[in-house]
Amino acid sequence: MAVVNRPTGTAAGIRLADFNFNNLELIKDPYPFYRYMLDHHPTYFSPVFGGTWMFFRYEDARSLLADQRLSSARADVPTRFLPPEDRAEFAPMITLFEEWLAFFNRPAHTAFRRHMARVFECLTEPNLTALTERLVAELLEPLRGRREVDLMTEVAYPLPALIICEALGIPRSEFKRLIEWSDAIAHIYASSHLTIDELRHAQTSTFEYVEFLQGVTRMAAADGRQTLLSRAISMETDGFRLTERQINAQCILLTFAGLEGARYVIGNGILALHRHRAQYDLLRRQPELAASAAEEFLRYDNPVQFISRVARESFTYQGAEIRKGQVVLPYVGAANRDPARFSDPDTLDITRTNNRHLAFGHGPHWCIGAPMVQVQLRVLLEQLFSTFPEFHVRDDADLDWNTNLGFHGFRSLPIVFQ
Ligand code: HEM
Repeated sequence: MAVVNRPTGTAAGIRLADFNFNNLELIKDPYPFYRYMLDHHPTYFSPVFGGTWMFFRYEDARSLLADQRLSSARADVPTRFLPPEDRAEFAPMITLFEEWLAFFNRPAHTAFRRHMARVFECLTEPNLTALTERLVAELLEPLRGRREVDLMTEVAYPLPALIICEALGIPRSEFKRLIEWSDAIAHIYASSHLTIDELRHAQTSTFEYVEFLQGVTRMAAADGRQTLLSRAISMETDGFRLTERQINAQCILLTFAGLEGARYVIGNGILALHRHRAQYDLLRRQPELAASAAEEFLRYDNPVQFISRVARESFTYQGAEIRKGQVVLPYVGAANRDPARFSDPDTLDITRTNNRHLAFGHGPHWCIGAPMVQVQLRVLLEQLFSTFPEFHVRDDADLDWNTNLGFHGFRSLPIVFQ
């Protein structure tokens, strides 16, 4: 198996030596770069985080996501670039994040996940659909009669935030603060080049949110509603129960996981539809394809481009000599465009069958919020097409890209209605 360590030169306009997750040229369109890497360096060693292995192929990404030689305990990765004496400043935040379900390994993860799956049982498909239909209708109603709107500001940002408010029992008037806290925290896990100020901003945001959650927790205990938060407080699964600190940590995880990806996939998907006009026309004629279109959005331009792991032992995989402690990144954004797995991978096809993309990961950590996202995309597409049958993206649109590749998407999408 051919493995290239530290390749030099240029890949699709990106100097390999400059490869990083905050390179705006890469962020805008990473797919030519991925195709180059799939063809020439499907396994790549990068110096970021003190040494990182990147895997681009579908089969490698899928298999590594379930590989028990890799650990999910990676809370400290964002502070790795700091000298050890500077890391202590961020210990309060990092040790809190160590409590995230996503950062647990088997066997502890199994009991924890079982418990969280029970907590999530209140969000049945009919409940999620009813909630989402109500919120989407509320957001689209004021847009009627307007010629142009920014879909990100008016819909894609508020929708997932309002859903998380409802799911956790947070007053919906607070949704903008949730977005600010979430963005600050998400940025540190989605970047390879951070400043100390960005880490400080994430830590301040974390503890402002924790303080805010104290009030919400008191309300949850008093009002008797079935929310993720009230259930997390009251439920026990085979003797497994969460402490207040652990509950706060999960609320932070659910907030940033719930807001970031869902928002960007709405924008990425609508832009992709606009660029594939025949698919847009097909969906307009056959709105029953909305669920299948949602899956294709997630494959075609997934907001989560890579998933990180840390090697728990030294081992060789596909010729890569992975050392204990090194970061390993299965690149799901590239895997979802791997021609060895998907036919015509760079084409959006809302009727694609056997679309087993890796947008939600694979294995024990498979995204617990996937149904929330699937329902959001389906309901939004259904209502968007029934309310505004004809729309397109403004030609000269400045999309205002997010500044990290970890959450791939943009902050502005001007839509013109006809
Ligand atoms: C488009 C939107 C989303 C995408 C692309 C996405 C993607 C992912 C991926 C790739 C993983 C696996 C991480 C790993 O293997 O380490 C994951 C895990 C997770 N996601 Fe999502 N997610 C999205 C939305 C959500 C939502 C809406 C929620 C809940 C409110 C959520 C909650 C979680 C949690 C709690 C985990 C950790 C599960 C575990 O470790 O057992 N995600 N997500």
